[in-house]
Amino acid sequence: MPQPTLSAEQAATFHELGYLVLPRFKAADELQSAVQRAHAIVEDFDPSLGASRFSTRDRSLVADARLIASAEQVHCFFEEEALDDNGALQVPKSRSINKIGHALHDRDPVFRRFSHGPELAALAAGLGLLQPQVWQSQIIFKQPHIGGEVGWHQDATFFVTVPHTVTTFWFALEDATPDNGCLWVQPGGHRSPLREQYVCEDGRLTMQALDRTPWPDRSGALPLPVAAGTLVVFHGLLPHCSAANRSPRSRLAYTLHATCGTAAYSPLNWLQRSADLPVRGFD
Ligand code: FE2
Repeated sequence: MPQPTLSAEQAATFHELGYLVLPRFKAADELQSAVQRAHAIVEDFDPSLGASRFSTRDRSLVADARLIASAEQVHCFFEEEALDDNGALQVPKSRSINKIGHALHDRDPVFRRFSHGPELAALAAGLGLLQPQVWQSQIIFKQPHIGGEVGWHQDATFFVTVPHTVTTFWFALEDATPDNGCLWVQPGGHRSPLREQYVCEDGRLTMQALDRTPWPDRSGALPLPVAAGTLVVFHGLLPHCSAANRSPRSRLAYTLHATCGTAAYSPLNWLQRSADLPVRGFD
């Protein structure tokens, strides 16, 4: 097992607050490669081949089959406000994409490099992730002016394990500010129950309510403005959200979701892997 690189104080902060901010985790050249590659994927994408809109406010916008297929592929998803009612683009293609997912870390050479290596393996070990399994990667654009809001949620909703182990690795590829839609978190909120579970049964996706604990109000929420290169890691039960981006600057982020291989991964989770692309760790 790799040697943890977190100090005892950092590990204690993570367990106390449910998140940890690690400035300068990624170097400028890695950021540049990732940002260039993200834009190149969009450039190569042909919208006429069909793509789904993506909105956390209305998940029905995403065709179930298309989302499920993206588990092992690299798919582009449009911003909710990028298309008119007839599906015609309202903004240039380069400004239309909400996110790219969900197997960049295994399928794309640039993001495969970005998502693996001894630093991440050691960090995962320091956070207590045993035999990490990295299920998902996403490039989240938060486009200028139309980048959509993401309401309060817990990432464990989408990655149920017994016990709860999913951990989010949120990399700022560009500066994230209160103006362009930085993360908001509820410090300590990872000790609250899982409110919802996103369930896949027979190819159909539904959001099921589990617990009525209210989401935090403004007084319990903290914005996390961070500079490009910062990694924010957070517990799967930590409530978090981000505002819409009405500013003229994008807020590109890249996320990974990993669980412990020692925990039972729910067969009801939407994201499953076939034998063709087995889930692997950070090494
Ligand atoms: Fe999230």
